[in-house]
Amino acid sequence: MADLSITVNGLKLPNPFVIGSGPPGTNANVIAKAFDEGWGAVIAKTISLDASKVINVAPRYARMRAKDSKEVFGWQNIELISDRPFETWLDEFKQLKDEYPDRVLIASIMEEYNRDAWVEIVERCQETGVDALELNFSCPHGLPERKMGSAMGQDAEILEEVCTWVTQTARVPIWAKMTPNVTHIVDPGRAALRAGCDGISAINTILCVMGVDLETLRPEPTVEGYTTPGGYSCKAVRPIALRMVMELAQMMKAEFSDSTISALGGVETGDDAAQFILLGAQTVQVCTGVMIHSYKLIHELRNGLSTFMDRHGFESIDDFRGQSLQYFTTHADLVQRQAKAKAAKRDGVVRKDTDWSGDRFVQQSDDLVSNQ
Ligand SMILES: Cc1cc2nc3c(=O)[nH]c(=O)nc-3n(C[C@H](O)[C@H](O)[C@H](O)COP(=O)(O)O)c2cc1C
Repeated sequence: MADLSITVNGLKLPNPFVIGSGPPGTNANVIAKAFDEGWGAVIAKTISLDASKVINVAPRYARMRAKDSKEVFGWQNIELISDRPFETWLDEFKQLKDEYPDRVLIASIMEEYNRDAWVEIVERCQETGVDALELNFSCPHGLPERKMGSAMGQDAEILEEVCTWVTQTARVPIWAKMTPNVTHIVDPGRAALRAGCDGISAINTILCVMGVDLETLRPEPTVEGYTTPGGYSCKAVRPIALRMVMELAQMMKAEFSDSTISALGGVETGDDAAQFILLGAQTVQVCTGVMIHSYKLIHELRNGLSTFMDRHGFESIDDFRGQSLQYFTTHADLVQRQAKAKAAKRDGVVRKDTDWSGDRFVQQSDDLVSNQ
């Protein structure tokens, strides 16, 4: 039976499945539910020092469904970070750590470009006993208007400076959460790790416009007739997340081999998670999947991953982590490999009965004689 437990940056998780920051970690009540159900760790909804600046709208979600099955495969949100008071959050972190001392609770934090604000939020959160901090440099809507979120994640220089403020203050592991809304994800990833972050989380949502209503001609989600581009998540983003995690993992293997990856984007099954682990992730987060399937999804995730591991004889996550990275190469190398394979086939040696050719029959017979 496969062992799903994993130790990441010194944190011991019973399984690699982590609630990703968002509605599934939006208050102590739901976080407790996630722990009770068996999730390996929870990352709370992102918080900032002054929640009064955070004003949400409704509706703030839009979904893309398959035409016939109605299955949801794309999800847009224009939700901001938490609008609950910072002090309430601090009380809830303490309460959760009292009630679940052995479970891993991670605070997700975001602030403006101001050293004092970052130092304060790190100090006050870690005093509550949370096990780690995730830095949200990645929310693509609303917050960038205040130069927060992905506005920081898209500028590797600023990101490195902010991460340095954090790592100089922090006594707990730090994960920097990347925005996919960049050309080269390894640039901000490298900047965060150079500044001393322990791990990278990737990816946050992809900036998108879900669609336009062909009756009203209004784009969705429509708020008083208007909208703003939002963040795309769910199954549809998984291939993009896999590519970005692969690129980060290749870079980290070469330059920051002790650092870790917490991968996310469209995970709903144990097989999805196995793919991220094969590309180098230690842990796998789920956000939208929980909004669609509930906290009970953890049971399917664990069963699916164990079944995959048992099928291959993998006893632990580390037995197969990063194993598929070796199969990525350049397109030029693919062309060469294919030419070589074709040449080997053309050498005319009969390996299968279908290789016999009427024109070369005698030569082929000769070639098969062992004592020429
Ligand atoms: C409704 C909603 C709210 C979110 N809020 C946050 C947030 O507060 N902080 C954050 O770092 N990511 C937030 N995210 C992004 C997710 O954590 C995750 O990075 C992204 O949705 C991709 O993963 P998924 O396909 O498993 O949802 C939010 C996502 C959704 C759908």
